[in-house]
Amino acid sequence: MHAVSTTTPHTYSIPPSRHLDISTSLLPPSSALVFSSKRPSDSFLSRKATPAGLQEHSMAVGQGQQHLPILAIAAGVVAHHGLFRHGEWHLHGPHIIAGHLVLGAVTAYYLSRFDNALAGVFGRLAVLAVAYFGGLFSSMTIYRLYFHRLSSFHGPRLAAVTKLWHVWHVSDSTNFLFQQKIYKTYGTVVRTGPNEITLFHPAAPELLDGFGNETTRDVWYDIVRPRTSAIFTRNKLEHKEGPMNDYYPRIANLVRDLSHCIGTFGENPVDIDQIMSWYSWDVMGEVLFGEDFNLTKSKVTHPGIEHRDRALALAGPLGDAIWIALLGFQLLPPVGRVNDWRRMMHFCEDHMVSRLNRGDNGRIDMATYFIEEYENTATTKTKTARDLHLSGTAVTAVVAGSDTTRAVLIGIWWFLSKFPEHAKKVQAEVDGVNPNDATALAALPHLNGVINEALRLVPPVMTGGNRITGPNGMLIDDILIPPGVKVTCPRYVLHRMESMWVQPNDFIPERWYSRPELILDKRAFSPFSTGTRYCLGKNMALHALRLVVTVLLQDYNVGFASGYDEETIWRDMRDQVTCQPGAVHCIFRPQASSCGFSSL
Ligand code: HEM
Repeated sequence: MHAVSTTTPHTYSIPPSRHLDISTSLLPPSSALVFSSKRPSDSFLSRKATPAGLQEHSMAVGQGQQHLPILAIAAGVVAHHGLFRHGEWHLHGPHIIAGHLVLGAVTAYYLSRFDNALAGVFGRLAVLAVAYFGGLFSSMTIYRLYFHRLSSFHGPRLAAVTKLWHVWHVSDSTNFLFQQKIYKTYGTVVRTGPNEITLFHPAAPELLDGFGNETTRDVWYDIVRPRTSAIFTRNKLEHKEGPMNDYYPRIANLVRDLSHCIGTFGENPVDIDQIMSWYSWDVMGEVLFGEDFNLTKSKVTHPGIEHRDRALALAGPLGDAIWIALLGFQLLPPVGRVNDWRRMMHFCEDHMVSRLNRGDNGRIDMATYFIEEYENTATTKTKTARDLHLSGTAVTAVVAGSDTTRAVLIGIWWFLSKFPEHAKKVQAEVDGVNPNDATALAALPHLNGVINEALRLVPPVMTGGNRITGPNGMLIDDILIPPGVKVTCPRYVLHRMESMWVQPNDFIPERWYSRPELILDKRAFSPFSTGTRYCLGKNMALHALRLVVTVLLQDYNVGFASGYDEETIWRDMRDQVTCQPGAVHCIFRPQASSCGFSSL
């Protein structure tokens, strides 16, 4: 047996057999060679600081540590099957990180009992971490590919292993295009995540949200945590609806402002995004809080719009791995887009609080219903829970109410500029019609055909709306999707599928009234969602769209600004919770015999 060198009291060279032991622990060669400078008082090493004792100890250590990487791999497998496979973890990112840091610290302490060199301890710790995470992720991969209850569903192999694959592919916020590729490659029922099925099927909207469905909203809706809200809550019983007709005259005033505002541009190009952002923000303020933000009149962009746009740009690509966004919101300092997110939340919260304090001033707005719910739940919920719910509802309604209308209006003005024959047809229809007559506007076929066609080709909510299957799963075309699986059906793809629409990519407003044969399956059309979860602002939004198109076409002729590249809208289109079309620049030339609001 090799004798331990005693040239210095606290350093000894490793016998050849120990070299072997340690290298099997995958240690870096430097740490494998020498245990150095152990302070006598540190460990039992010092207590047995005789050559025989040291030898005995080193053998014991070697035998013990030889198995540590195997134990670490096993721990990874156990953590997967015993812990992470069960329940939801998206809200626990900081806890998971903290738990692993504690585990690492305990392990480091244990290792330091046998090795006083910091580099040696960290080297071994790194080896064990690699072994642990290797075990964890290998176990996940094998399980998800071969043993998961969705393993018989086809789809991209890497998508079955991790959602990060999807996030990677849509990091430029083009999920709508990516989903279209997936449909073209894999067909109608596709496994797009470890526990996720995407349906490209006309029955999907009804299955996900139709009356009597058993689904619940998926974890995405926790993005406003700790807030909750009507839209973001996972409990569909909390869904609330209110009548919208009271808002019509107030929206008419805003459309009058819009027409005046456009008139001030004269022959200069109008940035449709900017103008429609002002208008839809004003509508949102009026409808939601009974508050006039006055943007269309003042032609000033509210900072809330900028925070909203930047916040949604952050949330968009992370929509399929919401735990990353939540982790960022919880751990990152409030700078950049994280700051925009917080400021957007605070804007919504502040306005809801001031609306709560000031009362409704005798005018119904959407907040009336939210506040009613807030007060009605005083005996059943804590104050904190009610405050968080009201705040989350405000965030939902601000985003849902302002950004959606804007997106489809951008689409409408692009189509009407590109295809002036449709603008002319609408002009003929609205000629002499009183814009205040909501019933008359709702009955105009080409006007509504234009709006429907724009909602089909530029759906403001392009993807998302994810659900979790209920206790009985979901049956689609004789395929049973098991319970507890995330299901989704991207509207953008559904609205352009050849099996549901003739000439799916063409703008043909007539398909909605005189050419019904061009619609093969109308179930595929659900821009406002359906059933128990349809949009609370649907009727009001449709009216606002009809009013804007009617009044502006009564007052103006529209066309692209010279030099505008028509492809910009499609090339720069982004899917960031709501649709963000690329820029559209138009010229609005006053009609010789204007009969809209501006002439009143
Ligand atoms: C063209 C315009 C609009 C479209 C296409 C649209 C579309 C949608 C869709 C698809 C949903 C369901 C989202 C989901 O399930 O995750 C929704 C929900 C909602 N929308 Fe709209 N929306 C529009 C305008 C508006 C407006 C103007 C308001 C209010 C001012 C509004 C308020 C809401 C609210 C509060 C919800 C949540 C309903 C709930 O689940 O409790 N929307 N909208």
